[in-house]
Amino acid sequence: MLHTGPVLSRSSTSAPVYRFLFKLVLERLDAETVHRLAATAMRVGTHPRFVRSLVKRLLAPRDPRLRVRALGLDFPSPIGVAAGVDKEGTWFEGLGALGFGFVEVGTLTARPQPGNPRPRVSRRSGERALVNSMGFPNSGAAVVAGRLRRRRRQTIVGVNIGKTKVVAIEDVGADYASCARQVAGCADYLVVNVSSPNTPGLRDMQAADRLAALIGAVRNGLPADGPHLPLLIKIAPDLRDEQIDAIADLALELGVDGIVAVNTTVDATVLRGGAHGEVSGGISGAPLKARALEVLRRLRSRVGERLVLISVGGIETPGEALERIAAGATLVQAYTALVYGGPLWPWRMNRRLSRLVREGGWSGVQEAVGTAASEDASRRPGSSKPRARFPQAGSGQKPSDR
Ligand SMILES: Cc1cc2nc3c(=O)[nH]c(=O)nc-3n(C[C@H](O)[C@H](O)[C@H](O)COP(=O)(O)O)c2cc1C
Repeated sequence: MLHTGPVLSRSSTSAPVYRFLFKLVLERLDAETVHRLAATAMRVGTHPRFVRSLVKRLLAPRDPRLRVRALGLDFPSPIGVAAGVDKEGTWFEGLGALGFGFVEVGTLTARPQPGNPRPRVSRRSGERALVNSMGFPNSGAAVVAGRLRRRRRQTIVGVNIGKTKVVAIEDVGADYASCARQVAGCADYLVVNVSSPNTPGLRDMQAADRLAALIGAVRNGLPADGPHLPLLIKIAPDLRDEQIDAIADLALELGVDGIVAVNTTVDATVLRGGAHGEVSGGISGAPLKARALEVLRRLRSRVGERLVLISVGGIETPGEALERIAAGATLVQAYTALVYGGPLWPWRMNRRLSRLVREGGWSGVQEAVGTAASEDASRRPGSSKPRARFPQAGSGQKPSDR
């Protein structure tokens, strides 16, 4: 049986010291200011190579069971940083040193832009959620590509690209193509983001015909003689089931490498009392987890093992990460859990995920990918798929690890 039950209590997803600091100081400051302070502290603190090596030695995932091979890359852990945390490509090395298996930088746009006016991120601490209306502030693809080109390639870096706000929707193909071209040589994989709610018209690009044209344009923007750059599409949680199916089918037809699901939601009903509340922007964190899992299951049932699925949305605990993996995600990502869980969150996640994988009887986390999906399939009449091995509730696994 899959651990869909109780997840880690809040106390076990964030360390007591961090929780204290969060309540006493951080929560009183503007969320984006805190984010910038964290980025600066991480950049400066881990700048000397010996400090970064030391942090890495202490916190990096070492258990070979956590390794995942996907998109032609070797990930030291399946747990990555979602787009939006390192928008500027300035602190991915530090995030990698904390124990994340990969970092998705961006969203970058072809030209620099300031994003929406501040404040544009607000906390819903009681619900472990964030609401943001950032609108892709960034220094532009050329500047960030320059930074990425100088990196030591110790951390796997995906680059997430989006629409420049001032570009007309008719010119969106050329805009994305230009962005893709600028970052092509310095990304380990590329994500075409058509799902952020804060750029007008962007999510309309998820319509199959528009998406097909956009992917074609992005491909044409990539250097013809360069090495294969894995291409993924990031989708919204607010799509209807048939739209999800259409995107999955299109991704297969176009030979896209994978899908990142999901971005933030504009469905305020996921928040307590949200049906009546005013929310301007996209909601992330705990309220998103049920929908993110639903979308993942739908995608997996449509594409099977033919695409790499990256699940993101509300993941807070190792049990939830494993649940997504078992449902078909090869990799997972988080943003909001890092905000509420603090800098040691990835280390705790890796440690406990290792244990769950061991207790589940898998040789490694990769072996667990899709096993809940195949378990579902094995229940269907006529299926000969073997039953998957999930740690049973009470199988020596602490409740806090589920
Ligand atoms: C403040 C903030 C900024 C974000 N910026 C981006 C972005 O630039 N591009 C993107 O694709 N997703 C962005 N996201 C969405 C996250 O990558 C992720 O899909 C979403 O937050 C759900 O994951 P979570 O519940 O773990 O936070 C942002 C999320 C937050 C909270």
